[in-house]
Amino acid sequence: MFSLFRKRKQQAWEPDRLPRHIAIIMDGNGRWAARRALPRTAGHAAGAETFRRVATYCKDIGIEYLTVYAFSTENWNRPDDEIGAIMQLLEKYLHEALGKMERDKVKMKFFGDVTILTPELRKLISDTEELSKKFEGVQVNICLNYGGRDELVRAAENYAKDFAAGVAPQEKLTERAFSRYMYSADIPDPDFIIRPSGEMRLSNFLLWQSAYSELYFTDVLWPDFNERELDRAIIAFQERDRRYGGLKT
Ligand code: FPP
Repeated sequence: MFSLFRKRKQQAWEPDRLPRHIAIIMDGNGRWAARRALPRTAGHAAGAETFRRVATYCKDIGIEYLTVYAFSTENWNRPDDEIGAIMQLLEKYLHEALGKMERDKVKMKFFGDVTILTPELRKLISDTEELSKKFEGVQVNICLNYGGRDELVRAAENYAKDFAAGVAPQEKLTERAFSRYMYSADIPDPDFIIRPSGEMRLSNFLLWQSAYSELYFTDVLWPDFNERELDRAIIAFQERDRRYGGLKT
């Protein structure tokens, strides 16, 4: 009888088969706010808080790389006040990250064309990248003014320049050599891409790098995503059979 009341043990992921690199499309902030009759900017503030929690959790459980989509090349089509609010949240986050850097030891990188951002934000970005490059725990990549197609066009342009200058491979361009021209040059492709909020598309995120990523979609809105949701996602990842175009072994 007693066993009827015993709590079922929660299924857990296996620590030795964690994805090395998790990428997340932080979607659903606007809908989260609308459901609470709050301005969209409140949804982004809640989303930034979720990002902090999830990044900390990734670090704690031993994920090596976390890449998040914070602002796309298409997000400039949003109202000015919403864009301003997202940039302010980033500034706030970077100030905090700089302050806690020696304690948290998180390596931070930015993927995207940050040259058009405000001088203040650009300075914060270069300081954070520079000061955190010595850390070797989790690496957090923030995609900012990022688009997968834009990244590919830039890579092609830069390759062409290097080719003309004689410093790029002159014989045959390989996938490996071309991937050196991506923002993600030094890191492995994402094993796992998570998109909350019920949308099932990549929206120009990591188009080159996602060739063999496992995709995970959930209806949970990003501000409601948390450690338990990530546990659930990782369990789903570990149930996948990754074949990379080959046959089951
Ligand atoms: C997508 O939700 C979210 C964004 C375009 C912005 C994401 C930004 C943050 C989470 C805050 C800043 C980030 C950091 C790293 C501190 P949406 O607005 O498209 O939601 P909707 O589809 O419900 O409207």
